[in-house]
Amino acid sequence: MKEKMTIGILTSGGDAPGMNAAIRAVTRSAIFAGWKVFGIYRGYEGLINGDIKEFTSESVSSTIQRGGTILKTARCDEFRTPEGRAKAWANIQKFGIDALVIIGGNGSLSGAVELAREYEIRVIGLPGTIDNDLYGTDSTIGYDTALNTIVECVDKIRDTATSHDRIFFVEVMGRDAGFLAQNSAIAAGAEAAIIPEDRTDIDQLAQFIGRGIRKSKNSSIVLVSESKKGGGAMHYAERVRKEYPEYDVRVTILGHLQRGGTPSAYDRILASRLGVAAVEALKEGQRNVMIGVKNDQIVYVPIGRAVKYDKPIDPELLNVLTVLSI
Ligand code: F6P
Repeated sequence: MKEKMTIGILTSGGDAPGMNAAIRAVTRSAIFAGWKVFGIYRGYEGLINGDIKEFTSESVSSTIQRGGTILKTARCDEFRTPEGRAKAWANIQKFGIDALVIIGGNGSLSGAVELAREYEIRVIGLPGTIDNDLYGTDSTIGYDTALNTIVECVDKIRDTATSHDRIFFVEVMGRDAGFLAQNSAIAAGAEAAIIPEDRTDIDQLAQFIGRGIRKSKNSSIVLVSESKKGGGAMHYAERVRKEYPEYDVRVTILGHLQRGGTPSAYDRILASRLGVAAVEALKEGQRNVMIGVKNDQIVYVPIGRAVKYDKPIDPELLNVLTVLSI
């Protein structure tokens, strides 16, 4: 390993609260080691276009408490092509970058795998997504903050749901994963969660209605994972209107407010630990691994595995919600 490395940091895909804490941690620990750091703007787009600036310790001052990403982010179609990656490689060479630290979700880390397969570049991934859907890590940067944001919103919805004796379907993000829906349902005392991981043929809506929603409560809140296939909260509300016209139904789609806001203490600490560990991993000669956390210990997960496998939802969580929502 080179004594003095030059690294590039970028954030890619959907922004997540805590990404700034991760950028700060990587930057400062690399500078602490005597290395040179480049900030790459707008994810892979900036790598392709050469939107790259040297970072100092001051570049990341007063950022740990800020949501979003100071490096900005993008979803870059050009990087999916060999031509796009060739342009990125040209800039990596031009700036003398020995290793890249990529902070992002599934799609972003998959891009890193492709680049590392084609070119002699060391890549370290940090899991940065509110979806919490990366295999091999218990938590991803931004998930805890988004979860808390959802719970705060659902608590407010509960006030109006109770006052009107209504059923609310609250749609949350998560792409193909139900972590946000399932755990916010538990934390907000919701009556049910409809999540993509529940792949039984049993109709989740009929199940929820069949449990006798009006036995002990006048209002109900159902957390629904966004879904391209399933139709999301609107779909379920429409079905209730048709199949159970006696119920008064409303829908709330929380949307992008789930991605914003000040990162929680948990996310700041997680991001700081993962950022420092990224530089440690490079010092140890690691390449093409995602830094994760398992049972509160830092772990290295081959990026290929992190993006290939689905992260399962613990069935215990499904049971907790079912038992407590009687
Ligand atoms: O991956 C993070 C995420 O917020 C998903 O939960 C959601 O499906 C998607 O990004 C939305 O992406 P965009 O901001 O590009 O619409």
